[in-house]
Amino acid sequence: TARPRVLSGIQPTADSFHLGNYLGALRQWVTLQDTHDAFYCVVDMHAITVEHDPKALRRRTRVSAAQLLALGIDPERSTLFVQSHVPEHAQLSWVMECLTGFGEASRMTQFKDKSVRQGADRVTVGLFTYPVLQAADILLYRPRAVPVGEDQRQHLELTRDLAQRFNSRFGRTFVVPEAHIVKDTAKVYDLQDPTSKMSKSASSPAGLIDLLDDPKVSAKKIRSAVTDTGREIVYDPENKAGISNLLVIYSALSGRSVAELEREYEGRGYGDLKKDLAEVLVGFVTPVQARVREYLDDPAELDKLLARGAERAREVASRTLRAVYDRVGF
Ligand code: ADP
Ligand code: NA
Repeated sequence: TARPRVLSGIQPTADSFHLGNYLGALRQWVTLQDTHDAFYCVVDMHAITVEHDPKALRRRTRVSAAQLLALGIDPERSTLFVQSHVPEHAQLSWVMECLTGFGEASRMTQFKDKSVRQGADRVTVGLFTYPVLQAADILLYRPRAVPVGEDQRQHLELTRDLAQRFNSRFGRTFVVPEAHIVKDTAKVYDLQDPTSKMSKSASSPAGLIDLLDDPKVSAKKIRSAVTDTGREIVYDPENKAGISNLLVIYSALSGRSVAELEREYEGRGYGDLKKDLAEVLVGFVTPVQARVREYLDDPAELDKLLARGAERAREVASRTLRAVYDRVGF
């Protein structure tokens, strides 16, 4: 196809994606399918860089894939696959590790943050080289663009440096990917602490909305979201973080602009806004959950879909790896 290629991955670290994952990232994955030749990857190899439970990992990998499909990733238009099903990721990663400076890798701020959280005696070499595996994930598919959030900028910079280094040392092999800054990504904040982002690891249960939570429970979380003591429903993240967060979520889920919502709720109370948003949310997650269940209830079909995705991914990845092996002298 003539469509530009794009690649994105997500870790299967939880039994459900949360609303921030969807509105901040996965929603754009769905949209990009219209304009791009998209490769989407559940990066299970990244998930073992910290201690993990094998049974949980296997379950979460499948649930992640099922959610991506249920949210609108179309396996006919996009290549959806599981990282460990495509051995070229590990193979290219080794070559790239041998091009990465130890000091260069040591400067990755996400490693520093994560090692503090893990505790020094539990930090693995895999956690350290994680950004190099990520570079391999990307470069194998030769995408021109990679959708990245702010937190991934440094890793993409490393990917670009490694691609350029390989090309200049061994001959032009890789496409040097650009950061694709996605417009309209919503940043979603914790419902109980609307100044920090909604996060699997940091949010309290009441502050976090998982897509696969019981819709009744999620509706209640929206209705109990922290708001200020004023009464005006206006977008003002400085002074009205809670209301602004709800407006952003509402706008993203309904496709209506924040300005339009402000007009609609002029002179009405916070309770009205919360009640309506709760309904919109239930209307969104209910069919998604039904589709997730369908995929999980038919394991053979899901396996077949993922096997087909891996096969398509390997067609591209093996071609890249062959060129790499040839150039480095294997
Ligand atoms: P978490 O921070 O909950 O561990 P991840 O780091 O696994 O989530 O993020 C997966 C994707 O979801 C990334 O693209 C990230 O930028 C996006 N994301 C995570 N939390 C939010 C949020 N609160 N708002 C917007 N996007 C988010
Ligand atoms: Na993150």
